[in-house]
Amino acid sequence: MNERVYRASASAKVILCGEHAVVYGSPAIAVPVSDLRATASFYPNQVDSLRVELPDVGEAWIWPPEPDNHPLALVIRETLAHLGEDDLRGRLVVRSDIPIGGGMGSSAAVATAVVRAVARALGHTLSPEETSSLVYRAEEIWHGTPSGIDNTVIAYERPVWFVRGQPPEPFYPARSFTLVIADSGVSAATREVVLDVRRRWEQDRPRYEALFRAIGDLVRQVRRALEAGEIEVVGPLLDENQRHLAEMGVSSPLLEALVAAARAAGALGAKLAGAGRGGNVIALVREADAARVAEALRRAGATRTFVTIVRPEPSSIAHATPSVVSRS
Ligand code: MEV
Repeated sequence: MNERVYRASASAKVILCGEHAVVYGSPAIAVPVSDLRATASFYPNQVDSLRVELPDVGEAWIWPPEPDNHPLALVIRETLAHLGEDDLRGRLVVRSDIPIGGGMGSSAAVATAVVRAVARALGHTLSPEETSSLVYRAEEIWHGTPSGIDNTVIAYERPVWFVRGQPPEPFYPARSFTLVIADSGVSAATREVVLDVRRRWEQDRPRYEALFRAIGDLVRQVRRALEAGEIEVVGPLLDENQRHLAEMGVSSPLLEALVAAARAAGALGAKLAGAGRGGNVIALVREADAARVAEALRRAGATRTFVTIVRPEPSSIAHATPSVVSRS
């Protein structure tokens, strides 16, 4: 028997440079990691209420959840309100390959997949802008004062130049570049790290604002180098960004060891990516060196490594995939 299912997915992301400073108005660059995805599958009419299942984390609830402030409940409610709908019955099954607490945007990807699946199930298609702003509300609950970079890069699934409060600018490098992403295996709560930076900034504004400005300058240089196809120029700029992040107090001995191992194995540059204290390290590499750098990162303590290539041309974006599939 064929079972109707509305399925949608969303990619992971990494911040290439500019995290934390972006919360205070500096630019940042983020890129999608299209091989790692969250998926939401909606099976209509199997039940007479809405049942949400998150098998990866062993969670399931019937609408409305108790307590009612689950970020996904909020995202579903906001999506229904935005679409002018109020009736959604069926099973919504949400899965993700994206490491949780790793700075790869797992929460924004999960919420994006849910927004897309709910919209499709009700016969709507949302623009990346609409999706991004619906997901942002859930990000506020998960992360406190998010800049909006995660929901943006994930909703567009393109490299994005992001300045808080301005329309995001998708852009493309003139040449492909390869990143090795290494999971430190340490899960750090973005919300806590972002709040801690805020406390430090409040205690010493001149020092932190100088750091944010220096990061903003190097992020501008990274964009110019990427658009000129000068990938080798980007490596030392990532190293410089890592020094600023360490000074800001968001690195850790393990992250420093991973960064050092990647550089020793031939990476052009390496830094933590995302909130820090745990999560991921990214290394910019020549494609031929990717396997060696990944191996060195695993030897230095990374629990997993992924290789992703960021290409000049637009990637095939998730919301262009067929909206309805049948499962036998
Ligand atoms: C987290 O992925 C990135 C941070 O800059 C926070 C944010 O931008 O919301 C640390």
